[in-house]
Amino acid sequence: MPRDELLDPSPTPDEEFEAALSRRLPSADDEGAGSDEAGLRPKDLQEFVGQAELKERLGIILEAARARQQAADHLLFAGPPGLGKTTLAGIVANELGAHLHITSGPAIERAGDLASILTKLEAGDVLFIDEIHRLPRVVEEVLYPAMEDLQLDVLLGKGPAARSIRFDLEPFTMVGATTRTGLITGPLRDRFGFAFRLDYYEESDLEQIVLRAGDVMGIRVHPEGAAEIAGRSRGTPRIANRLLRRVRDFAEVRSVGVVDQEAAADGLALFGIDERGLDKVDRILLSNLCERFSGGPVGLSTLAISVAEPSETVEEVIEPFLIQQGLLMRTPRGRVATAAAWRHLGLEAPDPSVAVPSVTTLFD
Ligand SMILES: Nc1ncnc2c1ncn2[C@@H]1O[C@H](COP(=O)(O)OP(=O)(O)OP(=O)(O)O)[C@@H](O)[C@H]1O
Ligand SMILES: [Mg+2]
Repeated sequence: MPRDELLDPSPTPDEEFEAALSRRLPSADDEGAGSDEAGLRPKDLQEFVGQAELKERLGIILEAARARQQAADHLLFAGPPGLGKTTLAGIVANELGAHLHITSGPAIERAGDLASILTKLEAGDVLFIDEIHRLPRVVEEVLYPAMEDLQLDVLLGKGPAARSIRFDLEPFTMVGATTRTGLITGPLRDRFGFAFRLDYYEESDLEQIVLRAGDVMGIRVHPEGAAEIAGRSRGTPRIANRLLRRVRDFAEVRSVGVVDQEAAADGLALFGIDERGLDKVDRILLSNLCERFSGGPVGLSTLAISVAEPSETVEEVIEPFLIQQGLLMRTPRGRVATAAAWRHLGLEAPDPSVAVPSVTTLFD
């Protein structure tokens, strides 16, 4: 099982946006329509598990908009992949009884692309722009007056003959999603009425998500089995659902098809996911750091070479989870394994009073 498929929380390419500008979100989960995951994505706030504070605030905003029969304020959802941003965009449209149009930052290359999307919107529609931090600057500038004053200025022609035409837009609700809040410019952020940050889920929420997914997919899941999967899901619903599918496969082939604690633990072990949700590459990285480089500090590129992964993958995909788990630290001199990392690998941490020379190379 390639690492990406099992643990990378990113959706597979194109699936999310094949329905770009369609009227509804695809009802199936990220593994493609037609599979038995149809309906896995919660459709309304009630079904959306966890994130209590966000749900309460969003619920009030949507109810107020519904009561006034107006479009809701523009909403921004930020947070790591797989936590439910796209799902929430669908929920917003559903709760408002509005049509949903889907697009993404990199898909809108020119101001004209945005203009054609905006002029198609009808009163009250919801426009979802995923990866909004990747909108080109020129497009962003056209978006400001559209969001604020429902005005669209389109430049026709070039040079001295160019003239600008102004269109009035129907009131709409924009929902933006981003995994990188820091990359959104101040002026754009300011034009959202509400910005929500999604955090990693509690284990108890993930248990519920697994149980719910089991129901939807027609899998018998014991609470202990759900707990076992939840504990290894990196706080991420998408990973929880994905691990459940693997455990289902395992349970169907090796036992009676019921996901109990044993099937979950054995199944995930078979696929190389340990009790903390670390996979093989995570463990090789940590054990290289501890055993080959005496726990660090060691430079990023050296560490990346030791696991045969590009530095960017190590930095953006592998390390954040290890850091969040308190297993690895980034220091100015390089990466360092924490005492918890040594313990997790069943190794004895070196005595901190004995100085260890740092490992650096030409490339660090
Ligand atoms: N709160 C939740 N309750 C139940 N299931 C959820 C919840 N949040 C997410 N999921 C499940 O996790 C999957 C991934 O969620 P979603 O696609 O909305 O994540 P995302 O934040 O948009 O990720 P990305 O940044 O990669 O686009 C969904 O298909 C859905 O089934
Ligand atoms: Mg998404």
